[in-house]
Amino acid sequence: MLKGKNIILGVTGGIAVYKAADLVSRLKKQNANVEVIMTDAAMEFVNPLTFQTMSNNPVHTSMFNKIDKFDVEHISLAKKADMILVAPATANTIAKVAHGFADNLLTTVIMASHAKIVFAPAMNTEMYNNPIQQENMNKLKKLGYGFIQPGVGLLACGDYGAGKMAEPADIVEYVIDAFVEKDLKGKKIVITAGPTIEPLDPVRYITNHSSGKMGYLLGKEAKSRGAEVVIISGPTSLEAPKGVQVVHVNTTQEMFDAVGEHFDSCDILIKSAAPADYRPENISSTKIKKKDNKEDELNIKFVRNPDIALHYGNKKNKQIVIGFAAETDNLVEYAKNKLEKKNFDFIVANDVTKEGAGFKSDTNIVTIIDNKGEIESYPIMTKSKLSKTILDKAYLILKNKS
Ligand code: PMT
Repeated sequence: MLKGKNIILGVTGGIAVYKAADLVSRLKKQNANVEVIMTDAAMEFVNPLTFQTMSNNPVHTSMFNKIDKFDVEHISLAKKADMILVAPATANTIAKVAHGFADNLLTTVIMASHAKIVFAPAMNTEMYNNPIQQENMNKLKKLGYGFIQPGVGLLACGDYGAGKMAEPADIVEYVIDAFVEKDLKGKKIVITAGPTIEPLDPVRYITNHSSGKMGYLLGKEAKSRGAEVVIISGPTSLEAPKGVQVVHVNTTQEMFDAVGEHFDSCDILIKSAAPADYRPENISSTKIKKKDNKEDELNIKFVRNPDIALHYGNKKNKQIVIGFAAETDNLVEYAKNKLEKKNFDFIVANDVTKEGAGFKSDTNIVTIIDNKGEIESYPIMTKSKLSKTILDKAYLILKNKS
């Protein structure tokens, strides 16, 4: 994800320095080139050799080191950086940058660079909440510097509160996100995800195997491309992607109503959920009891649920509506029928009997059919990559409309 990107990691003196080593390793795994600048205080906590070994690059520690090649070190670092990430960032370094100090290699490189500069603050909670610290951060935010919010927890000093450096995995996610083109900025995307459940009585319900992964990954990708995202989700165990509004529903009728709340204001509706087509005609208000005879049977009459995609597909005006088709046979034929009937711009058809496709897996195997008759079959790919493919296609349609 970060291939070809030069990340200068500024490491300043706080106990969270130990997490910065993990951060280097994670950035390297994303194929970034990482060069570390350590302040004197950081070197009190960890030897530069740790970062040299993790980054496979020499560690920069001073303005006045003897150099083998003749280039002005702080200027060449400042020029080559695609991003300068300071993690952990102490109150001291943040204050220096806010006031234009350039008294060590890191602050000098920051002053000399046009790259995106991002801080992951790490400090005692009283220091973090100190109005001076808050004012320094606000000043830098207004100037376009990025901040990765620290976590709340028990700090190394024994206090409890905000100030714990964000986890390396979250920092890497932020860095990746910062390089994604915000081509969907200003667009509102509504995504249905997961199964719906239809109750039989207070303790039982019918449902299906959808995990919600496909829909949540679409939401995450759309958010990172700058869209305002609403996921209308049936019950899942997934964590909401950061910055995405999740509306929780249970039944297909509830999903129908929730889509209705957002449909008029949305630009793209993606129907990746697997809503139940039927619900029991009557829901017992008490637990259904079995009878003590061998011939005991339970017959439940099911009635049709609303078809959300059919309703909104045919109601659309400016919206792009994208459907999914979960099939076990005749994939293309059935998907084409749904595309036409539900007035989709395109449909993503998956044969849910194939290994690596459909429900629960992290991958999918799909054929995308559009309303101009174009059919494209894709090899197995992660649902994350598929989300990009789907949104690329939606973006092109939007672009051609405007
Ligand atoms: O959630 P995961 O575990 O990641 O699995 C992903 C998935 C298999 C659920 C997803 O890839 C998928 O195929 N979703 C559509 C499932 C489905 O309900 O397909 P369908 O062929 O029955 O319905 C066709 C379209 O109409 C779908 O866009 C569906 O959301 C929509 N529909 C269906 C019934 C209904 N009552 N209302 C609807 O809007």
